[in-house]
Amino acid sequence: MRISNPRIVFNEIPNGLPNATTLVVDGAQTIDLDEVPLQGGILVKVLALSLDPYMRNRMRPADVPGDMPAFPLGDVVTGFGVGVVLRSETSLVNVDEHVYGFIAYQRYIVIPSINGNALDMEGLGLQIIHNKYNLPWRYYVGILGMSGQTAYYGLKDISRPKAGETLFVSAASGAVGHLVVQFAKALGLKVIASCGSDQKVSLVKSLGADHVFNYKTVDTAAELKQHGPVDIYFDNVGGPTLEAAIENAAQKARFVLCGMNLWLLNRYRVKMEGLIMTDWIDKYLEEFHEVVPRNLASGKLKYLEHAYYGMDRVGEAFVDLLTGMNVGKSVLVLEDAV
Ligand SMILES: NC(=O)c1ccc[n+]([C@@H]2O[C@H](COP(=O)([O-])OP(=O)(O)OC[C@H]3O[C@@H](n4cnc5c(N)ncnc54)[C@H](OP(=O)(O)O)[C@@H]3O)[C@@H](O)[C@H]2O)c1
Repeated sequence: MRISNPRIVFNEIPNGLPNATTLVVDGAQTIDLDEVPLQGGILVKVLALSLDPYMRNRMRPADVPGDMPAFPLGDVVTGFGVGVVLRSETSLVNVDEHVYGFIAYQRYIVIPSINGNALDMEGLGLQIIHNKYNLPWRYYVGILGMSGQTAYYGLKDISRPKAGETLFVSAASGAVGHLVVQFAKALGLKVIASCGSDQKVSLVKSLGADHVFNYKTVDTAAELKQHGPVDIYFDNVGGPTLEAAIENAAQKARFVLCGMNLWLLNRYRVKMEGLIMTDWIDKYLEEFHEVVPRNLASGKLKYLEHAYYGMDRVGEAFVDLLTGMNVGKSVLVLEDAV
C-alpha cells in the first residue's frame, strides 16, 4: 500500500533572510514501505531533523561556489537527521536500530548500499545509535549530535582549558553556545557569555554562567574589560564581537573560531596564534645571523627599502607609513654610511 512521503524542498532562493516560502513541504510523493526496493540497503523512518545556520549558505544558486554544494532548487534538502530502521538488506544494520547522520529531509528514506556499505552516504557516514540511557531520539540531532560535538571538541581540544581561566562565548543561548557554557563550567572555568535578549540572558545565567550580558543593550568591549581578560573565546558570531574579544584577550589567549563570519579559516582549519618576536630570539637569533646576511649578500634575498634622507623628513615618512605610501621598509637615514 502506498502512503504519503512528505519531504522538505528548497523552493526559492532567498534574497537576504530566508522566509516562509524558501523551504516548503511537498506532500505529493508516496512510498510503499513493504515493496520499495532497498538495493542492498535500508529503509528508515525519519524521526528528527537538524536545522543549522550553515544551511543558509546552501540556499544559493547552483553556480555560486561554496563550502558545501548548493541545495538543488525544487529538490529535497539534506542535513543531519535521526531515524529508525524499518527494513534492512544488510547485515550491518538491523531492523529497529536507530541511525544518525546526513540524510534527505523526508519522512521515509531508502539508503541504498554503496560499495556494499549501507552506512556510507554522501561522504558523511550514518552511525548506529546506542542509546544506553534511553534519551529521546531527537536529542541525537542536537546535544548528542553535531551541535553538542562542536561545543565539546572545540572546547576540549582547541581551547586547551585550564581551571580558573576565563572563557567568553557568544550566541551563548544557541545550540552550541549553551553547551559551551556548561562544559566550560564543568572544567572549572569562569564563563562570560553574550546573547541577544534579556530573556536569553536569564536563561544562560540559570545554566551557571558567571557573567551574562545582552550585546544589543550594552557595550561588549566594556563588559569584557570589566570581567575579562579573556583566556578563551569561543566565537559563534565573528564580526564586532570577535573584535571586542581580541581587544580584551589575555596573554596566550586561545580563540575557537566556530561561527560563519570567518568561514575561510574553518575551511582550512587555520590556527591563530599571537607572535611576539622577542619570544623567539633565544631559539633562532644565531641561525638568523648566519643565514640572512649571507643570502642578502649573494643576491638570493631582495630587500625593499623606502629611505628618507634627513631628520626633517620624519613627519612625511610617518604619514606615508600610516597611509600605505611606503614601499618596503621605511627608514629615516640621518647619515649614509656603509
Ligand atoms: N565550525 C563548525 O564545525 C560548526 C559546527 C556547528 C555550528 N557552527 C557555527 O556555530 C554558530 C552557532 O551555531 P548554532 O548551531 O549554535 O546556532 P544557534 O544556536 O541557532 O545560534 C544562532 C544564534 O546566533 C545569533 N545570531 C543570529 N543571527 C546573528 C547575526 N546576524 N549576528 C550575530 N549573531 C546572530 C542568535 O543569538 P543571539 O540572539 O544571542 O544573537 C541566534 O540565536 C553558527 O555560526 C554555526 O554556523 C560551526
